[in-house]
Amino acid sequence: MKTIGIMTTGGDCSGLNTVINRIVRGAHLRGWRVLGIQDGTDGLFTTPPSFIEFSDDTLPIENARLSGSFLHNGHAGAMNFETAAADGKLDKFNKRLKESLKSLKLDALILVGGNGSISLAWAHHDIYAHLQLICIPKTIDLDIPMTDRTIGFNTAVQQLTSFCDQLMLTARSHHRWFVVQTMGRDCGQLALNAGVAIGAAAILIPEIKFSIESLVSHIKNMPTDYGIILVSEGVSLRGHSGRPADIISRRLTAAGITNRTAFPEHTQRAGDTTASDRILATRMADCALRAIENNETYVMTAVNNCECKTIGLSEFYNAGDVVADPNIPDLKTSNSYVSPDDPLLDVAHDMGIYIGEVK
Ligand code: F6P
Repeated sequence: MKTIGIMTTGGDCSGLNTVINRIVRGAHLRGWRVLGIQDGTDGLFTTPPSFIEFSDDTLPIENARLSGSFLHNGHAGAMNFETAAADGKLDKFNKRLKESLKSLKLDALILVGGNGSISLAWAHHDIYAHLQLICIPKTIDLDIPMTDRTIGFNTAVQQLTSFCDQLMLTARSHHRWFVVQTMGRDCGQLALNAGVAIGAAAILIPEIKFSIESLVSHIKNMPTDYGIILVSEGVSLRGHSGRPADIISRRLTAAGITNRTAFPEHTQRAGDTTASDRILATRMADCALRAIENNETYVMTAVNNCECKTIGLSEFYNAGDVVADPNIPDLKTSNSYVSPDDPLLDVAHDMGIYIGEVK
């Protein structure tokens, strides 16, 4: 009988509970034990490690649609890869993680994480040398190389779409524009997808240069006197500091365009998991369990061209844009962004959405 572990790390998103539920279900059907490590790597750094053993009803099916992680994602002040690196204690941290995993006698660990967690797992892969490491990509940012889809992204797009749908009605009543700042870090996928879904007037993302003058003239030439301008949080304006939505709002006001700002913030990481994300979570859980049966290790589940399969962590890492952590240069993550060839950019442009200066 195998014993496998599950761990959720990094920021939460909707879909984590579905993937946990499906891993437990598939593993129990195979006669395997499943341990859930609590609070990500925090649970491994404590002595003894903090974990639970799943029974069939620990995370019942009716709760599998809820956002957040039943296993939690970690404490802000705890020792983790970043704080350990910053304090020069990375070796001690890695040693403790390895010892804890050994003490749990795991045959395999399924790590559900974002590009940061998966990059760190690969960079420190010796920690997992005695077991099979299978990663599952989750994030609302859709910034993980080598996979077209990540758990949580579809729900985040839906949440943002619903938020903007409500604003559109008050915008119309008051003949005003809303400048909505989205999450996404340095990647514009969330803003781009939600912007197309709502029929935004403009979508500003970090990957594409834009000019305020063009934005102003675009808004002034719109057939309506209301609507939504989506601004991704990673957008920066030369010579300005502060939240990009605030800066753009001020510039629009100065140009005589009546507007307000709105910040959906962490509602983008919440909300009942969409059917699409639940199906994705189920496919990825199944793929991860099969990978364990096939004796694979150091792999990540990925969906490309509708096919779900595993890819090597080295492939994942080398395919992306490897960037050093701004605060801790020793830590490097592999990232993906909106490509200039992304077909949604053409669609947005053809539909009269201002997306910047490239088209
Ligand atoms: O990576 C997910 C994400 O939600 C980003 O879109 C956002 O910039 C960040 O995490 C927010 O993190 P926190 O919840 O720590 O403020």
